[in-house]
Amino acid sequence: MLEIIHNDHRNINQLLRILRKKINLLENDEEIDYRLIKVIISYLRNYSDKYHHPMEDLIYAHYLKYRVVPDEVANRLSREHKLIKGATVELDELVEMVLLDAIVPKELCIEKLTNFVEMQAVHLMYEESQILPAIRASLSADDWVNLQQQWQHNHYDDPLFGDNIGEEYKALAERINQG
Ligand SMILES: [Fe+2]
Ligand SMILES: [Fe+2]
Repeated sequence: MLEIIHNDHRNINQLLRILRKKINLLENDEEIDYRLIKVIISYLRNYSDKYHHPMEDLIYAHYLKYRVVPDEVANRLSREHKLIKGATVELDELVEMVLLDAIVPKELCIEKLTNFVEMQAVHLMYEESQILPAIRASLSADDWVNLQQQWQHNHYDDPLFGDNIGEEYKALAERINQG
């Protein structure tokens, strides 16, 4: 399961890199394709928020219950998952407005996108540098068997980074391959 989480993080990082490039373009007054941003957000809503974070929540809950972990760690993890989910919905709505030709100041888009990318990146770094190593060191093989049994979504195909790329993700997958 930890491998899946690491892999998801690598994938999310690639998406954040594309978003950063879009922010740079916006800052340089260049046109960007908001549809691609919409697809990235839709992936994050449909995959990260539905599978990645729930898998982490399951592992973290187990870890917090059976190991001695400072309260601030528990609070920070659940708070950040909630914040990220909310920010993703909010950003999705903003991009939707842009796509519907509503007048949205460019500065607002830059600000919201930047905050979103930063929030995701900081969270990801925190997990990769502190939480996951601690979990790897402290959970036993039995813990992992137990967690695997509790995980309900075993056969989910990733529509963007998996073997079968969904129709709506094809353009984004190509964009990712371009580096
Ligand atoms: Fe997370
Ligand atoms: Fe994560």
